[in-house]
Parts: sequence; structure tokens; C-alpha cells
Amino acid sequence: MNAGWLWNGRPGPLMADCLKAAAAAPSVHNSQPWRFRPHLGGVEILADRSRQVDLIDPDGRELAISIGAAVFNLRVAMLAHGRVPMTRLIPEPDEPDLLARVAVGAPVETDETVRLLARAIAHRRTNRRPFADLPVPPEVLDELAAAARVEHGRLTVVDPLVRESMVALIGNAEDRRRVEPAYWAELERWTRQRPGRLDGVPPQAFGPWPVPRSVPVRDFGLVWPARRRRVAEFEPDPVLAVLYTTGDALRDWLRAGQALQRMLLTATVRGLATTPMTQPLEFPELRDLLCDRHDGQQAQAIVRIGYGPLCPPVPRRALADLLDTTPMGVAGAG
Ligand SMILES: Cc1cc2nc3c(=O)[nH]c(=O)nc-3n(C[C@H](O)[C@H](O)[C@H](O)COP(=O)(O)O)c2cc1C
Repeated sequence: MNAGWLWNGRPGPLMADCLKAAAAAPSVHNSQPWRFRPHLGGVEILADRSRQVDLIDPDGRELAISIGAAVFNLRVAMLAHGRVPMTRLIPEPDEPDLLARVAVGAPVETDETVRLLARAIAHRRTNRRPFADLPVPPEVLDELAAAARVEHGRLTVVDPLVRESMVALIGNAEDRRRVEPAYWAELERWTRQRPGRLDGVPPQAFGPWPVPRSVPVRDFGLVWPARRRRVAEFEPDPVLAVLYTTGDALRDWLRAGQALQRMLLTATVRGLATTPMTQPLEFPELRDLLCDRHDGQQAQAIVRIGYGPLCPPVPRRALADLLDTTPMGVAGAG
């Protein structure tokens, strides 16, 4: 294999590039709950459960979705470097934190879609600012749905007739959390500022307060209200879509993450801004309202889509902090 891929104590430059792409994925509260471990001819992606956002994500569903998004970025980056990513989800069911293994496969020609998706990885953002009051063309929404479908997800745009109910459901979930001391404590952990902090959601990503609340974005400024946080009018008719999978097990969550990320990157390629808004899915009884019992479709994410202003990137941890170079077979010994 090309030396660029090999681990010689550390990943070679091509592998390092792919791992940085993986680490640029979105994650719940920017928790970055992943670790990378060398494996014969590739890499293993492990869950870092110490980073699970326990109160809102007790089952680790959103953690797994975040890791699925990282796996998707890794696959795209490997393809952009001209190699087939040979991906296996949950390769060793006895090792519960080992969620995926991606081996460097045969050489392959890179096509235009891969090039565009790979370039979009660094430009995608979670945008919590007001979007323009403009419709998203139906053919672009179809393209986003097709992107999710390729990864075994189903993206359904919320019908304008029920949009108000969906906005009310998101607002209801947000309001319920605001009175829970444990939610404040958890949010404090992920929004407290420290010099040099490389995870969590920093103030520049909070966005303004939406007034009136036509778009109930998660209020990351709840615990640390800025002295002069801006108030802004958001688009009156937000375009919202729900991502579904068939099934609701760990494998489905990993698939949901890949479908979410393919859809978010495709939106970025099309010049669209996006905001995952998952508050109602964090209450079982509210999530049930969005699931379709007849065909077994499980709601995994809600995404706001539109034309938004540019916003700055939020930090990521350094690659060196994400590597698990424990020799294989030694982890957990003793
Ligand atoms: C599973 C999942 C759920 C998320 N839920 C929300 C949410 O409810 N509200 C929100 O504003 N952002 C949400 N996000 C976005 C993250 O906060 C964001 O990805 C993270 O802060 C990193 O920022 P970036 O996406 O701009 O790189 C979610 C992301 C994921 C993967």
C-alpha cells in the first residue's frame, strides 16, 4: 500500500487527511464523540462514551448519528484520494464501542460528485442565523431527498400545511428543557468558554434570538446569556425536513448519520444553509408523534434548509487527540 496511507505510529498524510475530514462532521453539541484506531489497512472508528450528551441522548442515538456523519466524511475523503472505502458497520458486535471499520480499498477514479462533496466538507456549517425569506426550488429538495436515499435514509419535506404544528412541536420541546436544571447543567458543560477550548458550541455559533419565534432554534446561550445578544426576525415560513430510517437500532442510527451528512453536504454544494433541530426527538413521546408506525419509519433528525448568511466555523480537536494507538488486542487488558 502507498506509504501515505500507512500508520507508522501515526497515520500517513493521506490517512491523516481523511481523518481530519471525518472530524469535521457535525456532532450533537459539537461533542466530537469519536476516536480513530489503526487497523490492518485502514481505520476503526470508536465511540467515545465519555462525550455522550447523556440527558438529551441517554441511548446514544445522537452520538451514533454523529459518528455516522464522520464515517460518511471519511468515505468521501478516501474516494477523493482515489481509493474505495471498504466500510463495515459494527464489525465486532462483542466490542460495543467499535462502530465502524473502513479499509483502504482498490484504486478508483474520482468522479465529479465525490469532488464536490469532498470540497463541501470544510464549508458546511450549522447555521443558526435568519435565512432569506425565499423558497427552496423543488428540484433541489428532490436532490437532497435522493442524497439521503442513497444512504438508506428517507428525507420528507414538511408540508406547508403542517409546518406550524412542527414549529410548535420544536418550540414545545425547547420550552420543556428550559425549566430542567439538569439540562442547564449539561448545556453549561458544552457551552462554557475556556481559552483554547476545541469542542462544544462557542458564542459565535449561537445565532441571534429569534423574535417572533418562527424558528425555535436551540438556545445555546441559555446558560451564558451574552450581555448584548442580538435579536433578529427569522424567516416566517421555514423549510423543514425530517430524516427517517427503517428501524431504530444502532446500525440504523449509523446509517441515519451517513444519510444526514450526504444530505447536508449536497445542500452545501447547492449553496444552501442548514440547521439540524432535534429537540422533539429527545422526548420519546414527542418523537413518537413523528414516527410512522405503519411502515416502521423512525424519525432521526429534523433539518431546517434555506439560504443563509455565511457563518464562522466552530473548532475541532486536534487529530493527535483523536487517535487511539493502543496496540490491537491490548485495549482493555489488565
Ligand atoms: C445528531 C445531531 C443533532 C443535532 N441537534 C442540533 C440541534 O437540535 N440544534 C442545533 O442548533 N444544532 C444541532 N446539531 C448541530 C451541532 O450542534 C453542530 O454540528 C456542532 O455544534 C458543530 O458545528 P458545525 O455543524 O457547524 O460544524 C446537531 C448535530 C447532530 C449531528
